[in-house]
Amino acid sequence: MRPLPSPFIIFVLLSHYTVYATRHSFHTHDYYVLEHNPSVGPSLSEVSRTLGVQVVERAGELDNFWVVRVPKQHSSTSLSRRNNGDDRVLTTFDALHHPPSTRDPNSHTARRIADSVKHLSRQELRQRVKRAPPPIRPGNDNSKHPLAQAVIDKLGIHDPQFPRQWHLVNEQYPEHMMNVSMLWEMGITGHGVVTALVDDGLDYESDDLAANFWGPGSHDYNDHEDLPRPKLFDDHHGTRCAGQIGAVKNNVCGVGIAYDSKIAGLRILSGPISDIDEAAALNHNYQNTSIYSCSWGPPDDGKSMESPAYLIQRAILNGIQRGRDGKGSVFVFASGNGAAFGDQCNFDGYTNSIYSITVAAIDYKGLHPIYSEACAANLVVAYSSGSGNHIVTTDKGKAECATTHGGTSAAAPNAAGVLALALSVRPDLTWRDLQHLIVRTAEVINPDDPDWEKTAAGRPFSYKYGYGRLNGYEFVTAAQKWQVVKPQTWVELPAVQIGGGTSSLIGEMSGGLPIVPGGITSTITVTKEDLEQNNFDSLEHITVRVWISHDRRGDVEVEVTSPNGVKSILAARRRIDANKDGFPGWRFMSVKHWDEDPRGIWTIRVSDIAANNHTGHFLGWQLSLFGSTIDASIAREYELSLFEKVLPSVPSVNGPPSEHPSTTTKAHPKPTDHLPGNHGEAEGEADKPAFDNGHPADNAEQPPSSSATASGTMVPTADEGWFSDMSALVSNQKWVFGAATIVIVFGLIAGIFLCRRAARRRRAKDHYSALPGDDLALGTMSRSSHAPRSKELYDAFGEQGDEDDVDESTHLRGGPVAEGGLGFHEGFLDDEDPNTPRTAPTPAYRDEPEKRQALARGGATSPGGSGSGSGSGDGDGGDGDGDGSWEHASQTR
Ligand SMILES: *[C@@H]1O[C@H](CO)[C@@H](O)[C@H](O)[C@H]1NC(C)=O
Ligand SMILES: *[C@@H]1O[C@H](CO)[C@@H](O)[C@H](O)[C@H]1NC(C)=O
Ligand SMILES: *[C@@H]1O[C@H](CO)[C@@H](O)[C@H](O)[C@H]1NC(C)=O
Repeated sequence: MRPLPSPFIIFVLLSHYTVYATRHSFHTHDYYVLEHNPSVGPSLSEVSRTLGVQVVERAGELDNFWVVRVPKQHSSTSLSRRNNGDDRVLTTFDALHHPPSTRDPNSHTARRIADSVKHLSRQELRQRVKRAPPPIRPGNDNSKHPLAQAVIDKLGIHDPQFPRQWHLVNEQYPEHMMNVSMLWEMGITGHGVVTALVDDGLDYESDDLAANFWGPGSHDYNDHEDLPRPKLFDDHHGTRCAGQIGAVKNNVCGVGIAYDSKIAGLRILSGPISDIDEAAALNHNYQNTSIYSCSWGPPDDGKSMESPAYLIQRAILNGIQRGRDGKGSVFVFASGNGAAFGDQCNFDGYTNSIYSITVAAIDYKGLHPIYSEACAANLVVAYSSGSGNHIVTTDKGKAECATTHGGTSAAAPNAAGVLALALSVRPDLTWRDLQHLIVRTAEVINPDDPDWEKTAAGRPFSYKYGYGRLNGYEFVTAAQKWQVVKPQTWVELPAVQIGGGTSSLIGEMSGGLPIVPGGITSTITVTKEDLEQNNFDSLEHITVRVWISHDRRGDVEVEVTSPNGVKSILAARRRIDANKDGFPGWRFMSVKHWDEDPRGIWTIRVSDIAANNHTGHFLGWQLSLFGSTIDASIAREYELSLFEKVLPSVPSVNGPPSEHPSTTTKAHPKPTDHLPGNHGEAEGEADKPAFDNGHPADNAEQPPSSSATASGTMVPTADEGWFSDMSALVSNQKWVFGAATIVIVFGLIAGIFLCRRAARRRRAKDHYSALPGDDLALGTMSRSSHAPRSKELYDAFGEQGDEDDVDESTHLRGGPVAEGGLGFHEGFLDDEDPNTPRTAPTPAYRDEPEKRQALARGGATSPGGSGSGSGSGDGDGGDGDGDGSWEHASQTR
């Protein structure tokens, strides 16, 4: 048979693309999420009739949350998004709150209907950007493995790569490993526990995973199918993470830490998804799935600051309160790979949630790897790549093994595996028991590291290592004896308003005190009565919400000091964060005050890099304490507030918001996106504090993989910011030679990658073409029909960690190819704004701010004496009726 003429092929490709496009891109409907409160009176159908919307289905596992829709309102999609005024549904909803005449009998009905809607927001398709991990290099092959051999003999392990899994048995540094083999000998191997990898798929047909695959806990939220098949050529991340936890003890590759436990795959990172789907994923099968291992988050680029949207926060809280029969879903989050960019995990609303177990990395020598992010919310470290070694684990394919896995996204599954072992012997432990056990059993490494400080409870804590390294044996044996903690309670101290500062629901801030050299301090006093009234026994997490306006966010430093003199640095300088939106009610978190007596004066200090033209105002702050109850029988259930950004604070029962918080588009790449290409090679360190007086330690190099910022090969010096470096270089003649070199290197790299990629694609195709019902082919065609050449280049560099490539590529590769999928998915659009920073490059200078402090009870002072803050810290002891540990902060990317 003759080959088909190429125009015919192009026609077929185009028509495929068109079909895909009309089904999924050309929006027939606008979608909303509606939170209904049936106790007010009006039924859901009354509400939907009044608003003129059609109810599609319940949103995930959330009670009283409904997905509703209307036919598309505007042909111009991008304009209508930002402006509620153009939105017929939101306008109607607003009108219900403000009926024209109170005498009108209809107005009463209108109000009741409005009151029965707690939350209404327009849904946008969100781009979860995924990128390939760094290129594969052959790992070291040690031939002598006496320690591993002993374990192999005792347990009858036949997995050929087991001796190379140093995180399980470390021949060179035997004091550095997850320390689980003794547990295996005791028969503790993870029986009965399900861990879901929320990631880019899971190769459930791999011989190393199939026997432990848990179907009911799995779903593909990208393509709306039951099974989380990895489809894109670079969908191997979830499979590798799954192997670390649940690789079967057989004759393929290596073993997982909990090799008799079950693993599930929730595929969300391989294309754009909505908040509804992300929320559903985080509650998927949440009675039978215990642990959600999440190796993704907002970009680790040193300039993003993002939290999960309200709906997702609700889902996480739902998992905490109802998952596992009320013992709580266990959310494990990788701390992030942006340390080399000066990024910190307190700028990520997932990792700084009290509901997350945040896991940073150490390498096989026990050193701090260049990529692993530090912050006061870090709970623990687990082993991953660095100093020349990677993690060896299962790879996508029938019987494949990956030897270059790493980053904090590999540290999180190692911790999740240990948690699975613990839950297999103590399924009754709650999410907080696991955190308590970590705090108590984690071990100091590198005791001479200046980052260690003693907490008030006498435990060493470090921003880099949290409470230390997770020792599997110690953790699980302590769990066996552990007595479960009492339910959670909290004290929400009233917000302190400074200099008349106010902030609206959407984070528009005004007023406040100018941030002077030396900073502004303000205090909040916690009394015995505050604790007693809230049934509060012992402290676990604290959260600090701040309202700070600033025209260069990365210049701002925030620290809070406890009554016992223990200081938590919440925000250290971030050199490349030039965002102008400040901190509109952003919530920081610290685990450093665990078990401290919180009574007394808490002092916040907000300062900035004084010696430049960037200034800002401190408008207010709010402190919350979370801990265990005195009397378990009167424990309350936490509620999220819709009004977190508002200053002065309003109780959530106070009427409707005048502005609707709408879910905005966000990209949540995997932490590997900013993982330096040399993450496994670069030597770690153990002699630098994470933050030096609020400044991040001077390790903020620009790793080579950051080619996204055109200037990826330049390293900011200690005295100059990133962009002034750039301008200095441009004015320098050497730049020409530099540019020439870059062009040559670029060309070489491009060549190498194109070759590798082509080879890989061939392999991928071979593998997938044999499988029935596979839609890779369609996806590939759709993509290649769309500017194939530029796409190739793009992806090639995507593997190295380029940033821009992802936006475009996910637009294309995100093609949901649902078969008989739910109707509402089809209307979601891929029409989001590109998530680019709005701010212009600005020169930044670094100077030590003078260290002068002034304290004022319940208020604020600037050291210059100019303007004392009018604090209102002594108001009624708010009982925190509704507030989240999650924050809706400005999202500017
Ligand atoms: C493993 O745990 C045992 C018991 O605590 C301890 O003696 C040993 O040093 C630990 N090894 C590692 C590598 O953590
Ligand atoms: C999940 O757990 C519940 C009890 O908690 C049980 O009734 C149900 O059968 C389980 N589902 C599956 C799929 O195992
Ligand atoms: C501040 O601005 C002035 C005038 O706009 C300029 O001359 C000066 O160099 C700037 N200083 C710094 C530190 O950027």
